[in-house]
Amino acid sequence: MTAPLRVAVLASGRGSNLAALIDARSRGALPVEFVLVGSDKADAGALRLAEATGIPTLALDPRGYPDRRAFDLDLFARIAASGADLLVLAGFMRILDGEALAPWAGRMINIHPSLLPKYRGLHTHRRALQAGDAEHGASVHYVTAELDGGPVIAQARLAVDPAEDEHLLAQRLLPLEHRLLPAVVGLIADGRLRLEGHGVILDGSRLPAPLLWDEAAGLRRPA
Ligand code: GRF
Repeated sequence: MTAPLRVAVLASGRGSNLAALIDARSRGALPVEFVLVGSDKADAGALRLAEATGIPTLALDPRGYPDRRAFDLDLFARIAASGADLLVLAGFMRILDGEALAPWAGRMINIHPSLLPKYRGLHTHRRALQAGDAEHGASVHYVTAELDGGPVIAQARLAVDPAEDEHLLAQRLLPLEHRLLPAVVGLIADGRLRLEGHGVILDGSRLPAPLLWDEAAGLRRPA
């Protein structure tokens, strides 16, 4: 038997996506080992959750560093020391230095609450509502130096109710994020997914478009 994929997670907030990953693993649905949960916020719920689960944690305060690059280099060095094969950003609310993240190319993914390439950055739910979009969603993508701009692996979509506000829309999207992210990590853990240049390769062939999350069938190729 091969060793399970070693996963580190970075999160700045409550950590519900981390919880979904941990839950998938405890159900036996995600063959990974969590080697580290790190945060730029010492009071992040994600750190408490990791502690309660027995996962090693790391809280690093950016204010202790002269600049972004110094912080990111130290952060990524510590993550590398954890032995992680894959780094998952799950609500890590920082822009990353391109040079610092370069060694993680193809080994770092992020979940972003929009149908990328729409709405990179913040306030995605509000912006989708303001634009009158009929559909909104979440994307899991490989991380590159471009903010929320790396190749998209998979998306979950939901219909927007024009009468709802951004909080309700965010709340309705979250459970889909919680299924989408473990499913993508599962593909990586199974050795089925990789990044080649700007292309996402699944089972040896390049995806022409992101995979779609289907509530009945799980991740499926676009039609
Ligand atoms: C999620 O909406 C995720 O898409 C975004 O940040 C939020 C993190 O939520 N990147 P949580 O901390 O996982 O609950």
